[in-house]
Amino acid sequence: MKNVDSNSHVRGESIYLDDISLIEGTLYACVYDSPIAHGKLKNLDTTEAEKSAGVIKIITAKDLIGENQIGGVIPDEPLFADAEVHFQGMPIALVLAETEEQARTAAKRITAEIEPLEIVTDPRVAFAKNNLIVPPKHFKLGDAESAFSKCEYVYEGRADVNGQEHLYIETQGAYCVPTEQDGMRVFSSTQGPTAVQRCVSRVTALPMNLVEVDVTRLGGGFGGKEDQANAWAAMCAVGTQLTKRPVKYALHRMEDMRMTGKRHPYSADYRIGLSKDLKIVAYEVVFYQNAGASADLSPPVLERTLFHCTNSYFVPNVNATAYSCRTNLPPNTAFRGFGGPQGMFVIESAIAHAAEKLNVPASEIQRANLIADGDEFPYGQIAESEAATSWTQAHEKFDFARLQKEADEFNKQNKFVKKGVAIQPVCFGISFTKTPMNQARSLVHVYTDGSVAVSTGAVEMGQGVNTKIAQVASKIFSLPIERIRVHSTNTLRIANTSPTAASAAADLNGHATQIACETILQRLKEVAAPLVEASSADDVSIENGFVFRGGEPTDLDWLVLVNEAHFNRVSLSEHAHYATPGIHFDWSVAKGHPFAYHVYGTAAVGATVDCLRGIYTVDYVKTCHDFGSSMNKSVDYGQIEGGIVQGIGWMTLEEIVYDERGRLRSNALSTYKIPDIYSAPKTIDILPLQTSRENSAIFNSKAVGEPPLMYGIGAYFAIRNAVLSFNAENSPAFDAPFTPEKVLLNLYSEKVKQMKARR
Ligand code: MTE
Ligand code: HPA
Ligand code: MOS
Repeated sequence: MKNVDSNSHVRGESIYLDDISLIEGTLYACVYDSPIAHGKLKNLDTTEAEKSAGVIKIITAKDLIGENQIGGVIPDEPLFADAEVHFQGMPIALVLAETEEQARTAAKRITAEIEPLEIVTDPRVAFAKNNLIVPPKHFKLGDAESAFSKCEYVYEGRADVNGQEHLYIETQGAYCVPTEQDGMRVFSSTQGPTAVQRCVSRVTALPMNLVEVDVTRLGGGFGGKEDQANAWAAMCAVGTQLTKRPVKYALHRMEDMRMTGKRHPYSADYRIGLSKDLKIVAYEVVFYQNAGASADLSPPVLERTLFHCTNSYFVPNVNATAYSCRTNLPPNTAFRGFGGPQGMFVIESAIAHAAEKLNVPASEIQRANLIADGDEFPYGQIAESEAATSWTQAHEKFDFARLQKEADEFNKQNKFVKKGVAIQPVCFGISFTKTPMNQARSLVHVYTDGSVAVSTGAVEMGQGVNTKIAQVASKIFSLPIERIRVHSTNTLRIANTSPTAASAAADLNGHATQIACETILQRLKEVAAPLVEASSADDVSIENGFVFRGGEPTDLDWLVLVNEAHFNRVSLSEHAHYATPGIHFDWSVAKGHPFAYHVYGTAAVGATVDCLRGIYTVDYVKTCHDFGSSMNKSVDYGQIEGGIVQGIGWMTLEEIVYDERGRLRSNALSTYKIPDIYSAPKTIDILPLQTSRENSAIFNSKAVGEPPLMYGIGAYFAIRNAVLSFNAENSPAFDAPFTPEKVLLNLYSEKVKQMKARR
């Protein structure tokens, strides 16, 4: 079953925001954004811009009819800077002009007088100034303090992990069209149509029922459009409200890179305590999250860092604290894994640290501590664990010992090329950690020609959710997939949606679609029963377009049945609601059962480092992955491959650089390196975990969007192991990404120290 979009993608016929046919009179927008990272906005000079050709209007905070506020979790983010600017790239004004070129030219003619204020870019500095977005969050299990005193070995250290640019192929953008009676229709490249609707309503002071948001698909979101699509839609809407004309804004790549937030960088201090037999007895960790200038989604991201701070391991005594620190960077936001990967990187660093000191392979410590059935996560949920099964099955198939031996033998024979291997277990909780968000709706219509139209709250962004939803309808109705069409995500058809995020879109919207289809199917069976002389609807089934009675085919087909139902005034439409059962969480005690289930996996990652140049290749990723039972292997394998490459990019090449003045230096694809085909692993082997365990995923097919990204963490440690085998004297700082530059410095650390001493 291939992706329903593949033909139109290959032909270039799929419609993204920039492909929407424009209405006569459309205006183009461009933002004027702050050139400096922190300061008092003293004066804004738009006179030159106003005289610029084609300019219709320049909008600033004072022009808004509604609130100048777009903060979703906390109201701390103005749409346009008012009295102060808080990051370089913060929108100050919006130019509307007859052409795109004219809008951009005019925006360059705006100048601002800004009185500089102190710029903070380091989360630890922000913490020291008590500049926090929210009060700190804590997770506690057992009694870490007293457990440490009983540990045989205790190690402490620091781990740093940088952010990541989303680099969706389609940049952010929106197109707003006026409708009757002051209403508007907003096309947006967003993961959260309802978030856009709410935000537009807030800045325009229009009720939500006058704001229609429509999303056909995204050219990627990766979390970057869960919240941060709102601003551009809000700007277009304000433009439409003030000019009564359609307004479009599709950001250029450099505007997007400069003005939007990224994955959160974290700095962390850890302390890990082990017993003689390598059991992790106690773990203490403090996270400093670099939130940027306003909250955005930083609080829930911070929480998920805590949820995943012990990864796949059972640690009986945990003391974890997390601070969300306000800095003068663009507000950082959701990114595949939502804070979980950062939490996992830190415990993997702590384990690597202990392994090096104890002179044992890290995999021995990892293997000794995998969470088992019945063990408690630090947040109180009891594990139904596939950590050991995925480890064992991966080990049986890929033979970890042999992989290590091959690397060791290679290293003996090669002086300036070294190989490293790392094992990377993953455990990721599925559900929005905020329980109320775990709900969805689906609207299903069966038409009198027998075709089926489905609308849900899920947004297609390349992850294949529309294919999975079509499969659900196809399976329940037993119709070929060609008879099913999944339509755009539209707030008039489906209201109050959660964003497509948390890897949960297929589960939530798929279940709602299942319920809607089953309800219609039941009505059809009731219509069919007398027609095929069945004793009751229970005796009727529909298979491959025909009605069956008692398991035997009849000659009543789908098309006739659908028309009989309609003739008898039986509804062929259903709007169904699904809410994930059994989940809850209580932050007053930081305990509960937040996740419907967990996704597990174990990967072996191999890398080769060129020790003269510091460059490296990832040779393989071999993973045993817990799909439950995949409903679409080609989609799910694509998610694994994409997630792995994106995770490797984050851990190795992708380096976001802000200077001390908070200016983004890696602001284009020439200075920000993402993985190309040469940086992808030479091979990716995927072994589906064999398990008979039931789960609550749609058709037992577990969520797959985010978990595989974290296999990429293994690339960091594989490269590190190769570096250590070249230069065992040096212990590289746990500081991701491990760029070729950092690798080179660590290969020759003694030389570097000497150089520094001379300076
Ligand atoms: N895959 C593609 N091709 N494009 C994307 O933008 N986003 C990821 C993941 N896979 C993304 C992707 C993220 S961050 C999430 S949360 C999930 O897809 C969301 O979709 P799902 O809930 O349907 O898995
Ligand atoms: N994951 C992704 N997005 C979210 C979450 C989450 O757990 N909570 C709120 N938005
Ligand atoms: Mo994904 S970070 O939950 O959009």
